[in-house]
Amino acid sequence: MERDQVRNLELLDMKEVVLAHEVDFHTWRYATRLSLRAKIPPEAIRWRVQNTNDKFVEPVFHQNISDEEKINISRNLMYDIMTLIQSYDPERFSLAYRLVYRVFYKELTLQETNDHDLSLLKDRVHDVLKETHHFRKIFSEFVALRECQKLFYENKNYIVEANADFCKARCAQLWEVQTQYRRMLWNGSRLFFGPGTAQSPHVTKAQWRSKDEGVWHEGFYPSQVLPPSRERVKEIDNLPELAATAMDCRSCELCVPACRTVFGVGKALSPMMLVGEQPGDQEDKAGVPFVGPAGQLLDQALEEAGIIRKESYITNAVKHFRFIDKNGRRLHQKPDEKHVMACYPWLEAERRLVKPKVIVMLGATAAHSLLKRSVTIARERSRLFSIEGAEKGLVTIHPSYLLRLPDERAQQQEYDRFVSDLTLARRFVESC
Ligand code: URA
Ligand code: SF4
Repeated sequence: MERDQVRNLELLDMKEVVLAHEVDFHTWRYATRLSLRAKIPPEAIRWRVQNTNDKFVEPVFHQNISDEEKINISRNLMYDIMTLIQSYDPERFSLAYRLVYRVFYKELTLQETNDHDLSLLKDRVHDVLKETHHFRKIFSEFVALRECQKLFYENKNYIVEANADFCKARCAQLWEVQTQYRRMLWNGSRLFFGPGTAQSPHVTKAQWRSKDEGVWHEGFYPSQVLPPSRERVKEIDNLPELAATAMDCRSCELCVPACRTVFGVGKALSPMMLVGEQPGDQEDKAGVPFVGPAGQLLDQALEEAGIIRKESYITNAVKHFRFIDKNGRRLHQKPDEKHVMACYPWLEAERRLVKPKVIVMLGATAAHSLLKRSVTIARERSRLFSIEGAEKGLVTIHPSYLLRLPDERAQQQEYDRFVSDLTLARRFVESC
C-alpha cells in the first residue's frame, strides 16, 4: 500500500509527496513524521494530490508507529491542520508541513500574533468551518424536506468527506451528496465515495468505492466534530440549523453508546408540540422520534383525535437513547435528572423556534423537563394550563405506558382517555 509514496519519499530524497486524494490527512501525517525526523526543510518538499496520469496510489496506512517516529505536536494544532486540509488552497499541505516544522524546531510558537503562516492557518480554518456550518444547514434542510434523495452542493472547500459522519447521523435513510470534486452515497448501511461532477457527469456502479476499500478506508479522511456551546444554541434562529448543530452535542455521556442524536421533526410555527421522553431502540436506528411501537400507538391516537402528525412538531426531552446491553439486546433505561437537565437547552431552543400554541407533555419525564418539578401524571393530566413559551400546556400519559398495561380492558380505557386528552389539545388549537 505504501510503495509509491514511500518510494517517492525514500528514493527521491522526499522531494515529492503524492497524496491519494484532496483530504488525505493520513499520508500527509506519515510523510510529515518521516520528513521532520530527517529534518527536511519545508521548501525541499513538493506536496501534490495524485491525478489521473499517476500510477494509482493509496493513502499510507502506517499502524505501528515507533516512538522515534512520533512527533509531539499540540492537539489543537493537529486539529486545526485537519481542518486546514479541507481548504481549497492548493498550498495547504505545504503550509501544514511548514507550520509543524517551525513549531517542532522551535522557530515558531503558537502564541505569536504577527506570523504570516499562522494567520493563513487561521483564515483557512475559519473559512472551512464557516462552510461546514453552511453545508450542515443545507443538508439538514434537504433531510427535512426529503423531496428527492440527491443533494447537489456547490463546494468551495473540500468538505464532503469530513461531514460523512454528520450526514449519516442526520439521516439514516438513503441519500447522495454531489459536488464538483466528489460524490458521497449512503445506502442505509454503507458509505461510498465516487468521482465528482467535474470529473464524471454520470457515475457507473464500478466507480463507487466503499468506505472499506483502498483510499476510503476508515480514518483516511478527516471527520469534523463540532460540539456546540450553549451560547451558540441560544443564537440559532432556524430549526434545520438547530437540528444540524445537535448532531455533535457531547453535553452528557449518553452520546457515546447511542447511534445518533434523534432531533425533533416538524416545522417552525406548528400549532402543537408533542414532547416524549427519549428515543428508543428503533428511533435511535432510524434517527426519527416515535417510529417504534410507542410511536405507532401515538400515530393511531393522533389520528383518532383528529391531529395530523405532519403538522405538529414532535420531539423528546432527551435526544439520545439510553439503554443497557443485555445479551446483545438494547434495553431502554429511563434517563436520569442530569440527562434531562443537560438536554434542556435543545428543548428550550425548539420551543423558542416552533412557538406552539399548545405543548403536550407525554409522560412524567417530559413534564418534569418542561415544568421543572416532579409531576404525578394521574393528578395533573387532562387539563389545559398556562405555560411559558406557549399559550397552554397539557400533561398526559406516555404511549408506552399503554403497552405495559397487562389487561386489555384497562388498556382500552387508558387509550380512550389518551385520545380524549389529545382531542382537548386539538380543540384548543382550533379555538385560537
Ligand atoms: N418514546 C419516546 O419518549 N420517544 C420516542 O421517540 C420513542 C419512544
Ligand atoms: Fe447532548 Fe442531549 Fe445527547 Fe446529552 S442526551 S449528549 S445533552 S443531545
